[in-house]
Amino acid sequence: MRLYGHEIDPKTLPGHVGIIMDGNGRWAKAKGLSRSAGHEAGFRALDRLLNANKEIGVKVLTFYAFSTENWKRPAIEVKFLMAMAKKVIVEYLDTLMANDIRFVMTGTFEGLSSDLRDMIQGAMERSRHCKSYILNMAFNYGGRKEIIDAVRRIAADSAEKKLKPDTIDDKKFAEYLYSPGIPDPDLIIRTSGELRLSNFLLWESAYSELWFTKKLWPDFHPKDFCKAIFDFQHRKRRFGKV
Ligand code: FPP
Repeated sequence: MRLYGHEIDPKTLPGHVGIIMDGNGRWAKAKGLSRSAGHEAGFRALDRLLNANKEIGVKVLTFYAFSTENWKRPAIEVKFLMAMAKKVIVEYLDTLMANDIRFVMTGTFEGLSSDLRDMIQGAMERSRHCKSYILNMAFNYGGRKEIIDAVRRIAADSAEKKLKPDTIDDKKFAEYLYSPGIPDPDLIIRTSGELRLSNFLLWESAYSELWFTKKLWPDFHPKDFCKAIFDFQHRKRRFGKV
C-alpha cells in the first residue's frame, strides 16, 4: 500500500520501532526559542506520528523520552521534562485508550517523585487492556542500568535458589529486563544526524536495523517514518546466518 509517498508492504512491517528523538534543543535554538519550546515541538512530532501510525500499523513504538544521563542537564530543563511527563499522562491517556493504545514505561522509578511514579503506574494499569498498539516510553532509562538491574535480580534469585545459573539463556535473561514480553525492536530510528545508540535498548537492539536522518526531531514527519520503513523492507536481515 502507498503511505505518505512510499510503497509499504503491510505483511513485512516492523513489529517494533524504537525512536531516539534527538535535536529538540538545536531546533529551538535555530528558531530563537527556548529548549522547552523545542521539547514541546518534539511532543507534537510524537503525537503526529502516533496519529499517522493508526494507518501505518506498527504495533509497538518505543520513544526515548528521558535517559538516566539526562539528569545532568540544567535543573530547569529536567524540571520541565518531568512536568511534561505528568502533563502527557494527564492530558493524553484518554486519547491513547480511545485508540486502543496501551501505555508502558521502560525505565527505572529511582529518582522520580512519588506522584509521577504513581501516575505512571496508574496509566500502565488503566491502559493494560488495550491491545491494538503499545506506546512504550523509555523514561528515566539507560541500557546499561537496565542490564545491571537485571543482573542484580538474577543474582538475588540465584542466591535464594529460585533460579539455577545453568538455566540462564537469552530468553531467561530477557525476562529480567524492564519490559518483558515486548519484542525486540526490528528498527531503530535516530534523528538529528548523530550516529550512535546513546545507551538506548542495548540488549534489545542486538539485531535491530539502524536508520538515521539529519532531520531534527520536531521536523520529523510520518513521511520520514514511512521512508525508514521502506528502507527497512529492502534490507536483508540475516541474524548471523548466511
Ligand atoms: C533530545 O533532544 C530530546 C529529549 C532528551 C527529550 C525528548 C522529549 C520529548 C520529545 C517530549 C516528550 C517527553 C516526555 C517527557 C513525555 P535534545 O534536547 O538532546 O536536543 P539537542 O541535542 O539538539 O540539544
